[in-house]
Amino acid sequence: MTDPTQPPAGLTDDGLRAANQAGWNEAAEHHRAHPQFAELLANFARPGFSCLDEVATTRLKMLGVSGQSVAQLCCNNARELLSIRNMGAGRCVGFDFSQAFLDQGRELAAAAGQDLEFVQTEITAIPPGYDENFDLAVMTIGVLGWMPDLSAFFATVARVLKPGGRMFLYEDHPILNMYPDGEQSMPPQPDESYFRSAPYREDSGLDYWSGKSYDAQPVYWTFHKMSDIIMGVVGNGFRIEDFEELPLDIGNRPTFENQPEQLPLSYILIARKGN
Ligand SMILES: C[S@@+](CC[C@H](N)C(=O)[O-])C[C@H]1O[C@@H](n2cnc3c(N)ncnc32)[C@H](O)[C@@H]1O
Repeated sequence: MTDPTQPPAGLTDDGLRAANQAGWNEAAEHHRAHPQFAELLANFARPGFSCLDEVATTRLKMLGVSGQSVAQLCCNNARELLSIRNMGAGRCVGFDFSQAFLDQGRELAAAAGQDLEFVQTEITAIPPGYDENFDLAVMTIGVLGWMPDLSAFFATVARVLKPGGRMFLYEDHPILNMYPDGEQSMPPQPDESYFRSAPYREDSGLDYWSGKSYDAQPVYWTFHKMSDIIMGVVGNGFRIEDFEELPLDIGNRPTFENQPEQLPLSYILIARKGN
C-alpha cells in the first residue's frame, strides 16, 4: 500500500516550496474568517498590545528591543512583529511568501497605527538590498519545518543581520514531529521516526486556528533534528548565547503539558552573528 505521507517521486525543493506557497495562500482565507483574527484586530487597536507570551517577552526584554531594527522571517500575519514594535522596536520588516497573509499583516498594522514594512518573497530569496539591515532577526512557532534546506535558511538569517546582530528563534520542539496531530493518549504514542528524512505530505489544510480540515493543496513539512538545527546555526557563523528546551506548548499540543514524563515541547535559541 502507498504511504499517503510520502511526497511524489522527483519532488524538488523548488517544487516543494511552490506547493507550500500555494497551501499557505489557500489557508489565509480560513484564518481571516476566524474569530481570532477579529480579536487580533480589536486588540491591536489598543496601544501597546502584545500577543507574545511571558517567555518570549522576558527574553526579548533582556535582549533590549527598544529602537532596534527587526526582521521577522516567515512573519505570517505579523502579529508577533507588531507586538515587538509595540515593545519599542524601531524599523520592523516582515518577510513571507504568502501575499494573502501579508495583506492580513497590513490590516493588523493599520489597526495598530504602526508603519511596518512587508516584503513578499521566498525566504532564501530575500533581495540583497536587505543584507546587513537588521539588529534582530525573529523566527517563531512553525517556521523551520517549512525549510527543506536548513543551512540555506540560516545563511539567509546571517545575511540580513548586521555584524553582531542576533537571531531570536522560538520554536516547537522537533520531537513533536513524531506524534500525530490531535494525539490524545497519555503518554502520547509516536507514529513517526525522529529521524524521518522524506518530507511529510499533508493535505488536510493549515487551519490550525480552528483545527478544521478542508480539501487542501498538499504541503510538505521537513523534519529537522535538534542537532541539525544547532549545527545549521553554528555552521553559518553564529555563536549561541542562550538555548533552553521548555515544557511549554506554544503550538497546538496543550494536552502534552504538565505530564509526569514530560516531553520537551518548545525551545528558545538566541545566537549572535560573528564571534
Ligand atoms: C506557521 S506560520 C508562522 C506563524 C507565526 N509565527 C505566528 O505564530 O503567527 C509559517 C509562515 O511561514 C511562511 N513560509 C513558509 N515557507 C516559506 C518560505 N520558504 N519562504 C517564505 N515564507 C514561508 C508561510 O507563508 C507562513 O506564513
